[in-house]
Amino acid sequence: MITRKPFYYGGVVADAHFCNRLGEISELIADIDTGLNVLLYAPRRFGKTSLVLNALGRTKHAYVFLDLMGIVDEREFINEYFNAVSKSLTSTADKAVNLFKKILGLKPNISVDFDASGNPSFRLGLLPGESKNVLKEVLDLPYKYAQYRNQKVVVVFDEFQEVVNLGIAEKLRSVLQHHGDSVSYIFLGSKKSIMKNLFFDKNKPFYKSVKHLPIDKISDQDWRQYIRQGFASHQKQIDDEAIDTILGISKGFPYYTQQIANEIFGMTEDKVEPGMVQAAITSILGKEEDLFLSEWERLSQLQKKALKLLIHASGVNIYAKETMARFSFTSSALKKAVEGLLAKDVIDHRASKYYFQDPLFEFWLRRLS
Ligand SMILES: Nc1ncnc2c1ncn2[C@@H]1O[C@H](COP(=O)(O)OP(=O)(O)O)[C@@H](O)[C@H]1O
Ligand SMILES: [Mg+2]
Repeated sequence: MITRKPFYYGGVVADAHFCNRLGEISELIADIDTGLNVLLYAPRRFGKTSLVLNALGRTKHAYVFLDLMGIVDEREFINEYFNAVSKSLTSTADKAVNLFKKILGLKPNISVDFDASGNPSFRLGLLPGESKNVLKEVLDLPYKYAQYRNQKVVVVFDEFQEVVNLGIAEKLRSVLQHHGDSVSYIFLGSKKSIMKNLFFDKNKPFYKSVKHLPIDKISDQDWRQYIRQGFASHQKQIDDEAIDTILGISKGFPYYTQQIANEIFGMTEDKVEPGMVQAAITSILGKEEDLFLSEWERLSQLQKKALKLLIHASGVNIYAKETMARFSFTSSALKKAVEGLLAKDVIDHRASKYYFQDPLFEFWLRRLS
């Protein structure tokens, strides 16, 4: 019998690899059922995509999923979106062509390609200069489909912060706002600062068009059970102390919790021995070092210094006189550095405390200092 590894990190997780998030799932499903548009932002690798796809998998709604990461201009957006809509809402290429001829105002020039396993991908032939109208037509597709079939459609825009680079935010909003509750839009974003700006700034196109769904780290209690179970499923054992050390470093951040657990799992014969957790962390820091270094290098000297101050002060009372003196900061310089770090999404501010968005970056920096 082939048993899958109990821990997984990288892409979307489902089924046995998906831990908890039951509260978020039921809230999201309820919001979709009511026809709300939903905004969800959290750092990269926090489990946004996994959460939304798992929630949608539990509903009967047809859904369209588009990841904006990697889309470079309006034309590509149109084609990728058209392809995503076609694939999701129709079962065969012939049906897609027919359906869109029926529900689209214009007679589209659709071409269909098949990959090696016979999966179709759809392209919309565009005439130069036509893309202005075509964007609207394509954006209206899910809505027209919902009307035509008299059923709700859900559209997920993943990595939606990228929209600001495409120059189509205004247009998107002006089309989507007419889709009422027959289409629910879910906007996922990895850059809190950009997403907040898009959705909570009075002068920005998406202002107040969504309900914000907060997503938290997964609780220690849920992780404990998940990790213990993962080892047990392969006749291995891990004690609570080791689990707590993992969680103390990952801070419940999903990707790292899985990555560390996986590393330790790989080292374990039948029981986790003292020292294995530290060895696993050292190995992971080695693998992530390049990433952390480039993160570090894109900061200004003052921002770097401010991060050291944040670590020293554990993120609280950072403007205390002695703290600032220790790092020879004036309060205005510190304020500016902190604002820069917030805008770069390196840190976050909640309940009068500053946090690193990436717990392993913090851990790496602590070791460095
Ligand atoms: N609910 C979950 N339970 C367990 N691990 C998770 C969960 N959500 C995310 N992860 C871990 O985090 C990684 C990244 O998840 P993903 O959904 O791609 O995050 P995001 O979309 O926020 O970048 C996954 O590969 C997995 O290791
Ligand atoms: Mg994602």
